[in-house]
Amino acid sequence: MTLWGGRFAGGRRDPLFEAFSESFSLDQRLVLYDLRVNEAYVRQLAAARALTQAEAKRLVAGVESIRRDVESHGKWAKGARCEDVHTWVEARLERAIGRLAGKLRTGRSRNDLIATETRLFAKDAVFSIGQACLEALEALLDLARGNLNVAMPGYTHLQPAQPILFAHYALAYFEMLWRDVDRFEGCLRRADELPMGAGALAGAAFPIDRIALARELGFARAARNSLDATSDRDFVCELLFACSLTLVHLSRLAEDLILYSSPAFGYVELADEYSTGSSLMPQKKNADSLELIRGKAARVLGRLTSMVALLKGLPLAYNRDLQEDKAALFDGLDTARASLMVAARVLRTLSIHSQKMEAAMHLGFLTATDVADELVRRGIAFAAAHEAVGKLVRHCLAESKTFAEVSAEEARRFIPTWDKSLARIASSPQLAVERRNVIGGTARSQVARQIRWAERATRDLKRRLGARS
Ligand code: ARG
Repeated sequence: MTLWGGRFAGGRRDPLFEAFSESFSLDQRLVLYDLRVNEAYVRQLAAARALTQAEAKRLVAGVESIRRDVESHGKWAKGARCEDVHTWVEARLERAIGRLAGKLRTGRSRNDLIATETRLFAKDAVFSIGQACLEALEALLDLARGNLNVAMPGYTHLQPAQPILFAHYALAYFEMLWRDVDRFEGCLRRADELPMGAGALAGAAFPIDRIALARELGFARAARNSLDATSDRDFVCELLFACSLTLVHLSRLAEDLILYSSPAFGYVELADEYSTGSSLMPQKKNADSLELIRGKAARVLGRLTSMVALLKGLPLAYNRDLQEDKAALFDGLDTARASLMVAARVLRTLSIHSQKMEAAMHLGFLTATDVADELVRRGIAFAAAHEAVGKLVRHCLAESKTFAEVSAEEARRFIPTWDKSLARIASSPQLAVERRNVIGGTARSQVARQIRWAERATRDLKRRLGARS
């Protein structure tokens, strides 16, 4: 069955093209949305007197029976061959209630239908992505809470820079993912409007109450312009951007942890469950879970790129190119959700080797800035202090010594005022951590403050998600 046979001579269709153009294999995932929208639409058609109440009743009963079937048979789509999910539903309805099924598509088009279903899908997907984000956020928060006393080298350019708390590090990713959640919620606000009633492009020619229909389907409002409503997919682009950025954040985290779990760092160790071995090298334990997250980021970014490219040259209004949006949307969201969930589990089972971090803190001259700052406090210009400490570092490197190992005599060659207090500053990365006591700094009390904020934030998010489920 097709929904458009009359205009055509009815000759043989090329099976290659049939297979090329079908979307049922993907959009069957929207079947419950299709049934829901159809049912609500039929009621509005009756209210607009385009159907009699008796016809509407039979149509609704037919749609309901399909829903029951679909819900009770996991494999309902098996063996079905049709152009798309809308065609399947209409054919199935005809089997259930006969020719009256042909009245289902009065005044509507698959163009406003698919736009409506995709938006409903997107709204639910944002909810489940939010839950996956919450899992990752809670895992990061617990890592921070459980390691408030652990300090580690902080890096810029991947070169040892200044000491930081491991909790501060974990919370940096909390902040990124928190903004991601906010971005998803922003996408949702803009996607939350009803296309149905837009018809193929110009608006339905039956007096459908679109406000009532929007309300019944749970949309915040009815789309104001029928051309826009049927042909734009900016909400898909936005969602894929939000997915991409989330994955970029996870990918950076993955990259860090891959490095930190390499024996050269040894700061963390992944649980066996989330690692894999080598078929050749018996000693290997590889962080494949994290490498895959990093790889999935590339995949989702590709989905975003294809979606944006899809729209750029399309004349208004609907074009069949738009059918490609589903592959991008479904895969982008599924991949982002799975990546968040795996990341959360990797984090929850991660071992933190604080002694390794502690040992590394005494290498790399992480307190060099603090020594220079102390010279500034003693009246020396920062530029001169920077120069002197740089020379001391150079000397230590040549002698293979840390700041703690250098003698006062040696140090005085570069910093004449070197004394016990400077030596203490140079060899106490913990003091360097505590000195960064500004809002957003790595001092313990500031990190504790971030934790309190993060606790409130996750509680709020949980409540918001709970209110929707
Ligand atoms: N499968 C199509 C899509 O996903 C449904 C709309 C088809 N509309 C049309 N006029 N051919 O976009």
